Amino acid sequence: MAIVGSGPSGFYAVGDLLKDPDRKVEVDLYDRLPTPFGLVRAGVAPDHPKIKNVIKVYEKSAEDERFRFFGNVTIGEDIHHAELAERYHVILYTFGARVDRQMGIPGEDLPGSHSATDFVAWYNGHPDYCDREFDLDCERAVVIGNGNVAMDVARMLSVSREQIAKTDIADHALEALADNPIREVVILGRRGPAQAAYTNPEVLELEALTIADVNVDPEDAKLDPLSQKALDGGMLDKTRRRNVEIVADYAAKQERMRDKQITLRFLRSPVEILGSDRVEGIVVARNELHRDADGAIRSRQTTDRETIECGLVLRSIGYKGVPIEGVPFDEQHGTIPNNGGAVIDPATEKKIPGLYVAGWIKRGPSGVIGTNKRDAQETVGLILEDLAEGDLPERVDTDRDSTEAWLLERVPDLVTYEGWQRIDAAEKAAGEPDGRPRAKLARWDELLAAAKG
Ligand SMILES: Cc1cc2nc3c(=O)[nH]c(=O)nc-3n(C[C@H](O)[C@H](O)[C@H](O)COP(=O)(O)OP(=O)(O)OC[C@H]3O[C@@H](n4cnc5c(N)ncnc54)[C@H](O)[C@@H]3O)c2cc1C
Ligand SMILES: NC(=O)c1ccc[n+]([C@@H]2O[C@H](COP(=O)([O-])OP(=O)(O)OC[C@H]3O[C@@H](n4cnc5c(N)ncnc54)[C@H](OP(=O)(O)O)[C@@H]3O)[C@@H](O)[C@H]2O)c1
Repeated sequence: MAIVGSGPSGFYAVGDLLKDPDRKVEVDLYDRLPTPFGLVRAGVAPDHPKIKNVIKVYEKSAEDERFRFFGNVTIGEDIHHAELAERYHVILYTFGARVDRQMGIPGEDLPGSHSATDFVAWYNGHPDYCDREFDLDCERAVVIGNGNVAMDVARMLSVSREQIAKTDIADHALEALADNPIREVVILGRRGPAQAAYTNPEVLELEALTIADVNVDPEDAKLDPLSQKALDGGMLDKTRRRNVEIVADYAAKQERMRDKQITLRFLRSPVEILGSDRVEGIVVARNELHRDADGAIRSRQTTDRETIECGLVLRSIGYKGVPIEGVPFDEQHGTIPNNGGAVIDPATEKKIPGLYVAGWIKRGPSGVIGTNKRDAQETVGLILEDLAEGDLPERVDTDRDSTEAWLLERVPDLVTYEGWQRIDAAEKAAGEPDGRPRAKLARWDELLAAAKG
């Protein structure tokens, strides 16, 4: 079978499929990058090294003889879905959600306004982003959205050189981020402290892992009547209750002694980004909360406006999946329509034999690495049921030995798992003298040359 996308969902599916050593399955894992592990390599922040230890689990799965990795192959461009469907009984799509969502406000495309998606990929050494430029020469940056990605990017703007020098951050980003002149990072949440999307450790790390004080205006920390009622009525989960306490603690703090400041604002939505030839400020609306028909607490803008001067805007309002030609796609949600992981034809709602999905492209861009384990297990369960019932399509060509030659005709710089291991060894060796876990190769040519050895 073919799995497309070697992030957590792809690798958890591999692990599950190959768990039984006697199971007669062979798995080819494809990725458009020469490097595996998806957002564990290209998303997880450099100052979170422990989280990347999960890679050891994936490496264990890759040792199995029934496993092969084919990197530097973009499905939909180098190889088409229809071609995979000729060769593999099962295709499992796990290619994540790799683009940013837009806000649709004036000024969004001004120089100095970027998506967190791009910024994260740049500091993590994703080869598509190594030549991006982020002008950090300003006093204040504004981050829109208050999920955990917003916490990551706010933190990365507020660290000292020492705090990141020994990480696997891309070299170009280390030089740009260390000693950057930004004095304040303002994080805008469109709802209140009780609805913030970040989790407890991540909001605490804004201070714990940076050289910044975290500020909250006591007025901003106060809950609106709806949220207060939800808190009093025991309707907030543990994470949200603790988030409310953390914000109250930040608001009560008296000392502001550190080099930088991070300010958490709530009930604020961006309306317009200002500037003639680059970002100079952002107009934000004050919001109020209401309960909508399905019972959720949502924000709506009032007529109150204020302008925050700033030279950099990072919008961190979530990721979005992109379609692959020939595979059904739900444009609105940026996902592949499915029933528990079995892809369905949206017109008939009938299952498409042999086609499955897991991870962010199945359920949308939410959840931590571990969430993809359960998600992949659910899908693999369906695949195994269909296998047992003989419910998989016939394929024209299933000769495993011919695959690599076929791919090499189409992608001369194909990267196998051995190729990745050469990249891995080169990066680790380059990082070692400076006490870093690795010095990432961030350019396509460097990666492909290292893969060849
Ligand atoms: C910035 C950021 C930081 C995060 N930090 C953490 C954290 O610290 N802890 C935590 O638990 N979770 C974290 N997460 C969440 C976690 O990374 C995701 O839950 C997880 O990576 C989703 O897994 P996935 O396999 O669905 O997608 P991905 O990890 O995105 O993997 C998809 C893979 O598919 C490949 N691909 C895409 N298109 C194609 C194509 N056409 N052909 C071939 N291959 C393709 C990509 O190159 C990629 O390797 C973070 C997420 C982000 C965005
Ligand atoms: N350390 C970690 O564990 C870690 C690190 C990074 C990412 N992750 C995980 O990866 C997933 C994705 O994270 P994410 O931060 O990209 O997404 P997220 O958690 O969904 O947060 C998105 C944020 O954007 C806001 N938003 C959406 N549309 C907006 C708009 N039009 N205007 C203003 N604000 C808007 C949301 O507000 P509303 O809530 O009001 O919609 C929310 O605050 C999450 O599950 C996250 O936990 C984990």
